[in-house]
Amino acid sequence: MAFLTVNQLTHAYFSTQSVTTALENISLQVEEGEFVSFLGPSGCGKTTLLSLIAGLMPPTIGTVKIQNENVQKAHNQIGYMFQQDYLFPWRTIEENIFIGLKIQHKLDKMSKTFALDLLEQLNLEHTRTKYPHELSGGMRQRIALVRTLATQPVLLLLDEPFSALDYQTKLKLENLVFNTLKEHQKTALLVTHDIGEAIAMSDRVIVFSANPGKIKSIHTIPSELQKMEPFEVRNHEDYKHIFQTIWEELNELEVEN
Ligand SMILES: Nc1ncnc2c1ncn2[C@@H]1O[C@H](COP(=O)(O)OP(=O)(O)OP(=O)(O)O)[C@@H](O)[C@H]1O
Ligand SMILES: [Mg+2]
Repeated sequence: MAFLTVNQLTHAYFSTQSVTTALENISLQVEEGEFVSFLGPSGCGKTTLLSLIAGLMPPTIGTVKIQNENVQKAHNQIGYMFQQDYLFPWRTIEENIFIGLKIQHKLDKMSKTFALDLLEQLNLEHTRTKYPHELSGGMRQRIALVRTLATQPVLLLLDEPFSALDYQTKLKLENLVFNTLKEHQKTALLVTHDIGEAIAMSDRVIVFSANPGKIKSIHTIPSELQKMEPFEVRNHEDYKHIFQTIWEELNELEVEN
């Protein structure tokens, strides 16, 4: 039994004037502990798919199952990380990392210790009493990761979490997030526009075509590369070849549009 099963999912957005079919007939399975990336042109429905998996809205057609249970409403064991960190500017870092626990009524001595340990693991202990505006973009995204992991989600949904960062910080965070998720044996889905990032971080890369969003192809990353840290993967001989294949595919999609 797969950890996550998306079965024949179609989603349309309705307004009084128009209907937009964002996704059409998407089926996929993700195993526990797997890291899967979604690549595809803007508007092909990547964010829509994450929202449906998280149960933030019901699909028009089809089903989502997590650990063999239908997702029918917002799933409280899913952690979401976005391009923006959405930290509360008027709260300290410590208050920010406890917020998810507080909302889920899970804030106790044990969960606090767990969150503070994570903060320490990510070398951010010294920021506890600071406010978000006192931190760099990369530090804020690391805090957002701590906050997301603090509630011990079973599944992480990462929607372009590194795209607002400078290249150097992004490469460092790729490694850090990869190692942290592996250490905590998390299942994760990553949306990105960066082909290199998708290859470097994932076990599988799923390429979507647009209008309406469909699965175009699935690339399984060789197991040797799956085990390596993202930075190492980017320097591996086989990386270039996989990059080229996906690059050409995405170029073709642009021409088709
Ligand atoms: N709330 C909404 N109401 C109406 N249409 C929407 C809504 N959200 C998304 N859409 C439409 O659905 C399609 C898919 O959008 P979505 O945001 O899922 O794409 P995406 O792949 O995440 O794009 P990007 O890479 O730019 O983030 C687009 O045509 C978009 O205009
Ligand atoms: Mg999006």
